[in-house]
Amino acid sequence: METVTFQIWRGGPARRGGLAGGGKLVDYSIPVSEGMVVLDAVHKIQAEQANDLAVRWNCKAGKCGSCSAEINGIPRLMCMTRLKDLPLDKPVIIQPMKAFPLIRDLVTDVSWNFRVKKTIKPFRPRAADAADGTWRIAQSDIDRVQEFRKCIECFLCQDVCHVLREHHLQDEFAGPRLLVYTAALEMHPLDVEDRLQDLKRAQGIGLCNITKCCTTVCPEEIRITDNAIIPMKERVADRYYDPLKRLFRALRGR
Ligand code: SF4
Ligand code: F3S
Ligand code: FES
Repeated sequence: METVTFQIWRGGPARRGGLAGGGKLVDYSIPVSEGMVVLDAVHKIQAEQANDLAVRWNCKAGKCGSCSAEINGIPRLMCMTRLKDLPLDKPVIIQPMKAFPLIRDLVTDVSWNFRVKKTIKPFRPRAADAADGTWRIAQSDIDRVQEFRKCIECFLCQDVCHVLREHHLQDEFAGPRLLVYTAALEMHPLDVEDRLQDLKRAQGIGLCNITKCCTTVCPEEIRITDNAIIPMKERVADRYYDPLKRLFRALRGR
């Protein structure tokens, strides 16, 4: 069995802005075997060398979105990252997500995402089509939003987005995950709610400058930028920046 060194962030908060903070990378060397993923290595280290290592996980199958971390600087799910795909001749660096407040070791506080989610207007369906209170919708219309429903809320897209990660504009920008959530509502064929003003103001969709980093890291391969963000940017632009529509709205006092 090959022995591999892992450098894992140990300690508490205050890493941001060049502060020394309450932690550091600590080396652990363990024998690894074929088929192991990064989460297996972390569990082995936790069991044998660092019983107090804090790590969040649940399914080990890429479906709960709990084990998000930064592996060699790239936001990834630990349970879906195979050791054989990493360069093992040098230490594997495992750090917590940087866009969220650190609680301890590899665990961050992602509750901000859920607070913002609560502020997004919920699904509001149009009146039923049939007397039995049901609707008729074309499969092709519903297919569009199915992609967005695959989201596992790992928040890796939020972690990688420079608007949140580097510029810390959490008060002005909801981030790609919550734009995907909004797109699932906004593009639903039955939904009649109007979220365009919120997208423009509270969610700050204009702050996304289409770097597409979010799409690159999404483990569900949701085409976040092309299929969710850009179409909603176009809807916002149509309403607020199309001169004819602006004139029409001004005349109607809206
Ligand atoms: Fe994770 Fe993708 Fe959902 Fe973002 S959109 S939270 S990267 S699954
Ligand atoms: Fe951020 Fe994705 Fe836009 S990474 S800038 S939300 S394309
Ligand atoms: Fe569930 Fe990794 S443990 S996604």
